Amino acid sequence: MKAIPYGRQCISQEDIESVIAVLKSEYLTQGPVIKEFEDDFARYVGAKHAVAVSNGTAALHLSALALNVNNASNVITTPITFAASANCIKYCGGNVYFVDIDPETWVMDIDKLEKLILSKPPNFFSGVIPVDFAGYAVNTEKIKQLAEKHNMWIIEDACHAPGAYFLNANNEKVFCGSGKYSDLTIFSFHPVKHITSGEGGMITTNNDDLYKKLILLRSHGITKQSKDLYENHGGWYYEMQTLGFNYRLTDLQAALGKSQLKRADDGLQRRREIAAKYHHAFKNNSKIIKQSVLEDGHAFHLYVIQVVERKNLFDFLRTKAIYCQIHYIPVHLQPYYKLMGYKKNDFPIAEAYYETCISLPMFPTLTSDEQALVIQLITEYINGS
Ligand SMILES: Cc1ncc(COP(=O)(O)O)c(C=O)c1O
Repeated sequence: MKAIPYGRQCISQEDIESVIAVLKSEYLTQGPVIKEFEDDFARYVGAKHAVAVSNGTAALHLSALALNVNNASNVITTPITFAASANCIKYCGGNVYFVDIDPETWVMDIDKLEKLILSKPPNFFSGVIPVDFAGYAVNTEKIKQLAEKHNMWIIEDACHAPGAYFLNANNEKVFCGSGKYSDLTIFSFHPVKHITSGEGGMITTNNDDLYKKLILLRSHGITKQSKDLYENHGGWYYEMQTLGFNYRLTDLQAALGKSQLKRADDGLQRRREIAAKYHHAFKNNSKIIKQSVLEDGHAFHLYVIQVVERKNLFDFLRTKAIYCQIHYIPVHLQPYYKLMGYKKNDFPIAEAYYETCISLPMFPTLTSDEQALVIQLITEYINGS
């Protein structure tokens, strides 16, 4: 039997041809396809600017640098995320604080965020990094109200959530990455994500100054734009104006990403269909807890359930070649963060969530038969346990 992973890329003939076209072209990197992908992506999420980078972690690092994070910075994120959401602050020498998750939506608890902010002196925190966990769009309108009051910026980690939205107080759909409330939003194009470029990432923003900084930081801090130069010695001249990195995406990757983006809405729709089927299959099973989804704007990067017998279920499904995953081991319990003093029971809701969570297969090419098998095996196992 073919193995069923929790996530898998989907590559079409058009994707392959797009990459081949770049291979036959003048530019493998620093060519025109990067900007085309950026423009298409900005349009897709409804932002003014998009900056393509080498991966989602680079997107987080550059975002933190653009917002001047340094060793005096204190920044808040959630423990239920991939480590990179927190690590980007450590790269810049800053301090990471965590806020526990909401027990029903599994994203940062905004009341606890406010409590943490108020527990410190004014202007103690420079920013917050909410994460649209599993594809559930965090209510950044509410976070923005706090951020504005306390002079903080917002980097939204939307790696799980291209195409996701929440409804704001005016009942408008606010899409992740649109920059309506977040200063910067970051995405990843790792193969398990909604669209892939192999490795890749994107930062979106409506802020012209941050955009300019990101472009500079992405490529060694170097500019050749004559209007931005301090001097100009001739056609060859460039200036390194700040300490940047080589976090560029190649044209090969951008071509794949751009081609994938054309099918992003189809993939999203299929993910929502798969989620609806899981929901329906498990809805009357009191032994299976699901994420509370308040709107239909969930992007379902992951479909997570909570079950008491999680480890046994995980192992059992492996024997049937169904490779589920666990998202996530709480970041504060990683040995690196424990060295900073974090310990068990610091964030009890996140820790309790971790004990029982399991991410089921969720990707657009999952067949109905494969999903039916997953549902059947889980149901039989849970009911028999
Ligand atoms: C929530 C979150 N943030 C950041 C990242 C980092 O992205 P990348 O793997 O592209 O560096 C990931 C990727 O797994 C992620 O899931």
